[in-house]
Amino acid sequence: MIDDVIRTRRTHKSFGVEPVQRDALRELFELARWAPNHHRTFPWRFRVLGPESFERIKEAAGPSEAPKLERAPTLVLATAALSGDLISDEEDVCATACAIYAVLLGAHERGLAAYWRTPRVVRTRAGREALGVPDGERVLGLIHLGPARSSPPAPERPSVETYLSYLP
Ligand SMILES: Cc1cc2nc3c(=O)[nH]c(=O)nc-3n(C[C@H](O)[C@H](O)[C@H](O)COP(=O)(O)O)c2cc1C
Repeated sequence: MIDDVIRTRRTHKSFGVEPVQRDALRELFELARWAPNHHRTFPWRFRVLGPESFERIKEAAGPSEAPKLERAPTLVLATAALSGDLISDEEDVCATACAIYAVLLGAHERGLAAYWRTPRVVRTRAGREALGVPDGERVLGLIHLGPARSSPPAPERPSVETYLSYLP
């Protein structure tokens, strides 16, 4: 049931070494197509890092940050292609977040570990250049993917009463 997939998905920080194969990645990222998206701009962009781009981003990250990029065997940069219109851009960032979440849920459903991460380097000019991100795209994060190595505990969460109210 979708409820169980939503409740049991976790952020993983420890991964097995086997990269996710291209056919599995294609299947996973196909789920992004179905994200809700006002004006159907389809703004999400996903770039799977290969060995050269991985070396470039590690170099841009520097020695203190680079080791954390090595946690997962497969890294995917998630960006939103924006138009410059403030309202559309806000909606397109939201749509891209929905698309990323679809991928995270799909990964979990398939027994893969995933981690949506926003390391400092992807916000820097050097990090963007390392991954060839053009000016019109907003970086939403790096998705770490790979075989699960543990079952992370669920962090405490506020109850529904703290954020759900009924207006008269
Ligand atoms: C937009 C976004 C950015 C995130 N960036 C980071 C990050 O840089 N480092 C990190 O440890 N976790 C990051 N996370 C994961 C959250 O820490 C995690 O979702 C939260 O602790 C709840 O755990 P759960 O995903 O297992 O439910 C990010 C999550 C989102 C949605």
